[in-house]
Parts: sequence; C-alpha cells; structure tokens
Amino acid sequence: ADYELDGHADFLSKEIHEQPAALRRVLAGRLDARFATARLDGLRLDPRELRGIRRVTFLGCGSALYAGQIGAGLVEELARIPADAEQASEFRYRNPLVDPETLYVAVSQSGETIDTLAAVEELQRKGGRVVGVVNVIGSAIARQCGAGMFLHAGPEVSVASTKAFSSMATSFTLLALLLGRVRDLSAAHGSRLVEGLRRLPDAVETALQTSDEVAEVARRYADARSMFYLGRVRGAAVAREGAQKLKEISYVHAEAYAAAELKHGPLALVDAQMPCVVVVPDDELLAKNVSTIEQIRARGGPVIAVTNAELPEGLADAVLRVPRLEPELDSIILGVPLQLLAYHCAAVLGRDIDKPRNLAKSVTVE
Ligand code: AGP
Repeated sequence: ADYELDGHADFLSKEIHEQPAALRRVLAGRLDARFATARLDGLRLDPRELRGIRRVTFLGCGSALYAGQIGAGLVEELARIPADAEQASEFRYRNPLVDPETLYVAVSQSGETIDTLAAVEELQRKGGRVVGVVNVIGSAIARQCGAGMFLHAGPEVSVASTKAFSSMATSFTLLALLLGRVRDLSAAHGSRLVEGLRRLPDAVETALQTSDEVAEVARRYADARSMFYLGRVRGAAVAREGAQKLKEISYVHAEAYAAAELKHGPLALVDAQMPCVVVVPDDELLAKNVSTIEQIRARGGPVIAVTNAELPEGLADAVLRVPRLEPELDSIILGVPLQLLAYHCAAVLGRDIDKPRNLAKSVTVE
C-alpha cells in the first residue's frame, strides 16, 4: 500500500504530505522525557564514548549534505563541540585527515549512493569511527556502517527528497540533544527540546496548510529565469535545500546565499526579474533579515518571505507563514513551504515531477 498514490497526483505530493507521519516514526521510542534526552541505542555508543567525541562530521551528497549542514549547526549549538558537513563525493579524493576522536555520520536516504559508500570505506580503512543515518534497511551503507540510526521515513519514490530530508534533520536534532546532554546542556533546555520535538509533526502538518498560498506564489513567479534563496544561520542550509529542490524538479535556476553575502556580489543580479526567497526565522537575526528584504526590494527584486515571525505589513511581496516551535526546529518547519514552492513551480511549468530529466533516485555509479 505504501507504493500507492493515495489520491495524490504524484509521489512527490504524497511524500511531502506524509511528513508528519514520517517524523512521528523518526521520533518513536527515541524521546526520553524523564532524562530530557534522546535514546539512540543503534549508535552503540555508551555515555563515556559519547563524551569522548571531540567533533562530528556529517558526510552526504545533495539533500543529505544539506541535512548534514543543519545537523552540524545543531551539534555545535547544543553540544558545543565543532561540527561540519562534507560533500561525500569529494572526501576520498582529497586524502582527508581521519581523526579518531571525530564521530563521522554518513547520511543517505537510499543507502546506496556510491560516493557516500566510498567515503565510509575510506574512513574505515583509516580507522575512523562512522555511523550511518539511512532510510533503507539492509542497504549497502547501513550494512557497511553496522551502527547508526534508521530514519523509518517509509519508501521515498520521487527522485526529489522531501520526507527523508526532514527526517534526517529531525534525527540530527536527536543526536545533537544526546551529545548535548552528556555535556553541559541543561535538563531544562533538554526538556524544552523533547517537548518541541514531540510537537514537531503537528507543526509540520500546519506548515503544509500553506500549500494553496504557495501555489498562488508559484503562479506569479514560476516563469522566472532564476531565483535567489537567502538565509542566515538556522535559515542558511535549508535555503540551499530549497534552491536545490527548485532546480531539480522545475528546472528553474536557483542559487542559495548566506544573506550577508548578498552585498559582496550577487546583489548586482537583483532586479524585477529575480525573485528572492528569504528564510526568516523568528530569532535574534530577525532585524538583519528584515533589512536584507528591504535591500532587495530597494533594487526592485520581488521577495517571497518564508517565516515564523511577525513581519512588518507590506515588507515582502508574499509571506508564507509557518508555526513557531523551538528555534532549534526552525529549519525543519521553514523547509516545508520551500518544498511546496518547488513542487508548485514544477506543476505550473508542467514538469515530470516524480522523474525529473537527467536524474536518478540513487546515484550508484560515478
Ligand atoms: C534530492 O532531492 C536529490 N535527488 C539528491 O540530492 C539526493 O539527496 C542525493 O543523491 C543523495 O541521495 P541519498 O540520500 O540516497 O544518498
């Protein structure tokens, strides 16, 4: 039954709308309210080993890489240890320094991506400790890692990843919470996150209700030749994922930038023909993002704001509002309208939504 469309026009629509259920499965049995932490037994790391980890490096390709960037931000924020995300496709070619005190996290929906598998093998050869965050049970990367977390997002059929992406980001929130709670993350902060995660599927459900509004925005802007996606900190990686999604299924060129980089070059491209999607979390950078929007509009650029904040009336040409939960969960919730925007642009343009040209669901050859 998982492979049926359930009344949706295509698998992508089905998978976007399945996200609340997918996230419930990611979280099932993994929230520990009593100790305000996460339970990730599949990692096979005891508290002493968890405390011995000095750095976390996520490895993945495409959307898995962008999810890893969200994960790295969360690990730094909650566990206060350095974290980064690397393109798995480059890893084995650049003779990486493999550090025994780093936890490497190989991220893959399919578990079959050749570049990610090769990165795992290179790591293991050099004594690196690597765990997998994988959706497909029994897949090559899951087997090669031998420890990690399954997403349990359910089968993802559409080439464009949506529910696996948000499931990855959710699982990294659990990982960051766990790493934080064996260090100096307070029980109060941990409880706030456990409660936020528990409410996350419902918040994503509410975010999905923007779909009709997003469709209207897509009708206005889908004929653009190119779009910018801008964000800061919690909005940055999800902006990259949003841009990737638009390129992948609508074939409209999109480029993501850290909002502050705009003035260092790309602002020269902004005019009435360059819609800018600005991700605006309700956080300490709100005023900065508001001024980014004003700068774009001063150059005549249309602005689509995706936000969980109250924005000044008339600030943007379109405002897509989603619920506000905990700031650490912003990128997951703000990502939903970005998926819908790519989806509706592709629909307006009559693209083959589940099977975009030139792409394969999993890239098993180099
Ligand atoms: C996602 O929309 C893309 N189709 C692509 O970037 C994908 O995320 C990437 O190829 C990695 O796939 P994996 O998660 O199966 O390893």
